[in-house]
Amino acid sequence: RKTKTLEGKTILITAGPTYEAIDPVRFIGNHSSGKMGFSLAEEASRRGAKVILISGPSNQVMDDKRVELYRVTSAKEMLEKVFQFYDNVDIAIASAAVADYAPKEVAKEKIKKNDDSLTIELVKNPDILRTMGEKKSRQFLVGFALETQNEEENAKGKLEKKNLDMIVLNSLRDEGAGFKNNTNKIKIFTKTERKEFELKSKDDVAKDILDFVEGQLLK
Ligand code: PMT
Repeated sequence: RKTKTLEGKTILITAGPTYEAIDPVRFIGNHSSGKMGFSLAEEASRRGAKVILISGPSNQVMDDKRVELYRVTSAKEMLEKVFQFYDNVDIAIASAAVADYAPKEVAKEKIKKNDDSLTIELVKNPDILRTMGEKKSRQFLVGFALETQNEEENAKGKLEKKNLDMIVLNSLRDEGAGFKNNTNKIKIFTKTERKEFELKSKDDVAKDILDFVEGQLLK
């Protein structure tokens, strides 16, 4: 079996959380560690792809020096970085957990605890993946869906609405799946296919995802 199965392909991968500033010391974030995206980037690079990895704040380190790693903080920065490269990639995989909302205004100074309650107005962030779907031409576009209920229905809805070629579903109802863990349990959907996988390490999940992508590219 050929090992450099992605030779000649350029892959863009997003990873990690985004942090949306509230004031100079606080932010709205989420539990994403970046592991899933880093595993995908390493595996794609091992298969010979040119890899562009755009990650939100994460403690993950990239040992593979061939991976082009860009670190960003907020959803807006991630969007900007993604579209610096998007036109020229063959495959894009969005594994980042992007904040759907951000504070409308970022306080210039640290907010003082003077009041018994505090309201922070949030406004919708750009949907990076949806924008990728709208601008899709040559790219094979893969999204993720992180769900807690009506998982399959929601994932298929995102596949459709965001104009994706494939979506990877992980559910927080499955033990060992989703955030932080070194393991994940996924289901993959295309418009016509559905495949369920066992719980395994994120490195092995990355192999399953890229095997599936390669299978789709041959069709
Ligand atoms: O980083 P780890 O700790 O290893 O955890 C991995 C993971 C759980 C974060 C990962 O496997 C995962 O599920 N990533 C997607 C998380 C998510 O935000 O899912 P979602 O269903 O809310 O979003 C759907 C898709 O739209 C995702 O591909 C997301 O990247 C994208 N999106 C969402 C909102 C937004 N404003 N812009 C986006 O691009």
